[in-house]
Amino acid sequence: MSALVLVATGTYLALAVSLFKEDKVSLVYELNASNVKTLSAEVESGFLKIADKIKLLTQGHADEAWARAVFEAEPDLISYSLYRPGSEAGTWRRVASVRNSEYLKLYGLAPEEIDRVRERFPVPFAKVLAKGSWAANATMPGGAPIVTLALAVAIRDKDDAGEYVAVTDLRMDRLLKLLSEPGIATSYLVDAEGRVVAHPDASLVTSGATLADVPIVRDAVQSPVALRLHKFDWLGKAWLGAHSSVAIGGLSVISQVEEEQAFRAARLLIRKSVLFGLLFVTAALLVSGWMSRSFTVPLEQLLAATEKLARWEFAGTLHVKTRDEIARLARAFNSMASDLRGQRAQLDAHRTELELKVKERTAALEERQKQLSEAQESLIRTTRLASLGELAGVAAHEVLNPVNNMNIRLERIRKQLREAEESDLKLMNEIVSAWQKAYSSGGWKGLEGELLKASPDSGKPLVEEDFENLMGISRDLLKRLEEKSADLEFLGREIARVTRIINSMRSLSRVGGERKPLDVHLSLKDTEVALADAFQKRKIALVRDYGPEAREAYQVIADRDELVQVFSNLVRNGLQAVSAANRRAGEIRIATRRANAEAGARVEVRISDNGTGIPQGDLARIFEPTFTTKTVEEGTGLGLSISRRLVRAFGGDIEVEKTAEGEGTTFLVWFPAVP
Ligand SMILES: Nc1ncnc2c1ncn2[C@@H]1O[C@H](COP(=O)(O)OP(=O)(O)OP(=O)(O)O)[C@@H](O)[C@H]1O
Ligand SMILES: [Mg+2]
Repeated sequence: MSALVLVATGTYLALAVSLFKEDKVSLVYELNASNVKTLSAEVESGFLKIADKIKLLTQGHADEAWARAVFEAEPDLISYSLYRPGSEAGTWRRVASVRNSEYLKLYGLAPEEIDRVRERFPVPFAKVLAKGSWAANATMPGGAPIVTLALAVAIRDKDDAGEYVAVTDLRMDRLLKLLSEPGIATSYLVDAEGRVVAHPDASLVTSGATLADVPIVRDAVQSPVALRLHKFDWLGKAWLGAHSSVAIGGLSVISQVEEEQAFRAARLLIRKSVLFGLLFVTAALLVSGWMSRSFTVPLEQLLAATEKLARWEFAGTLHVKTRDEIARLARAFNSMASDLRGQRAQLDAHRTELELKVKERTAALEERQKQLSEAQESLIRTTRLASLGELAGVAAHEVLNPVNNMNIRLERIRKQLREAEESDLKLMNEIVSAWQKAYSSGGWKGLEGELLKASPDSGKPLVEEDFENLMGISRDLLKRLEEKSADLEFLGREIARVTRIINSMRSLSRVGGERKPLDVHLSLKDTEVALADAFQKRKIALVRDYGPEAREAYQVIADRDELVQVFSNLVRNGLQAVSAANRRAGEIRIATRRANAEAGARVEVRISDNGTGIPQGDLARIFEPTFTTKTVEEGTGLGLSISRRLVRAFGGDIEVEKTAEGEGTTFLVWFPAVP
């Protein structure tokens, strides 16, 4: 409020000052104009009064006693003379003359002094006749200031008619007093030639100096108009002034002031105004401050009480001593506060009751929640078991294949044993038994005779036939030995495949491993260690790009070994894809991120490779159990399907985020983050 008053007053003052500054020239003009107007009016009325007297004196110039009475009534008159044209052209004759004896006495002057004045300041009769009047300074050196006024008068007597000129000398005391009134401007009177008639500077009057070279005087002489304002330079200074002609005697009143001096006065005026304004503002502020305090103190009390009430700290009653609207407001406030306190008490009671109810409900809800999670847990187990059953079926089918193969091979081995090897062994046994019999009955000779006997079948000596048979047996044995070792190798491979399938199944047989919050990075580390050899052997680089948050941000609820199985499956797939693509700079990248999805915060693991990529046609099938593009030795096709089942059991999922044939694949595995 006070600030507003201050700003408003300041603006007003600034405006006033600027207006005042702009108007100061016209102000000075106005001052000068009114000055010359008043002066010329006064001078004019003085001279017109004298003119009336002159006319009176002219009427009765023959009556000397009457004329003297007129002089006594007008103390400014010093002399009066009446002239008429002489017999010669251009000459004038005095026909009457009266002098103010009182004045002459006062200054100790002889009547002839007046004649000397006339001689020194002759009257230009022709000009008087032409203009009707004429006036001039007629001060004698060292004498009192005198002005001469001449008037053209017409006399219409029966014996004395014609144009006359009446001449009077007048005291200038009153005129000079008029001009020397104090003021910032200098005012003076000049005649039609620009000579000083009256001036506050007495020396200029006595010397009868001419001021015709002053621009304003020149202007006044050349254009004796009623009133004119003038700005001019004189004596190297700027002046402001005005001149006004007097209706009688060809005189002009001039008022002039140095611009600098005029403005100094104006500035003084402005300064005084500003000072006054400031005083006024200070007083206004003090008064308004006092008044606003009388308003604000009770209002502040009210405000403080309201704030307390808002914090429920207000317990008493507000006392306001005024008798106005604020007191009414305080009464209303008191009643509102007491109402509020009552309502608050009720509310508190309700709240306590509500809290109790909420507690009961919460306990009931918690119980329900517990039951629900137990039911959920058992459902998961059931689902897991069901999926286990399904997988077991698939796996059994998978296991049956190699087992069948093994059976066929084993059957072949058995058949060989039974047929070929039995007959070979029998033949060998027969040969060796015949040799043994011949040797034991006849010694070397007996054996030799036996061996050289001709064979009943071929006619050749028996020894040749025996050697042929033995050689054939050993060849057969060698051949079958080779076949057997190939069969054994096949069996070994098939057994390894069965082992792998069974290993994959083993993880599923552990229904729900040990689930607890664990940092995914731990399982990733385990995976790295497990596959370190594979990386090294294939010369594939592993790039880790783990998220910046603290490790707690990467906790998921899962089983550490199961996670290792998932990550190993994915990394192994990546390694195989990179090898298959024959990359020079093969690379597997493992990135972890904490992310905010719609369903809540989650932990994301991305496993990328720059391998073969997955053909569009295969994408829909890769999670199917037994879908594989690898050889029987390389893959069973169970990896992704088992991994997905495991991750889904932890509440997360596995998806192919991107893949491009010949460029690589990124698998995204995500889990709900531990809140
Ligand atoms: N990173 C990958 N790049 C290219 N193809 C892939 C990748 N991962 C999986 N696949 C494809 O998906 C198929 C299924 O993968 P999955 O891991 O389920 O079985 P597998 O690797 O063939 O055998 P297993 O994992 O049982 O040894 C793979 O045969 C392969 O065609
Ligand atoms: Mg795999």
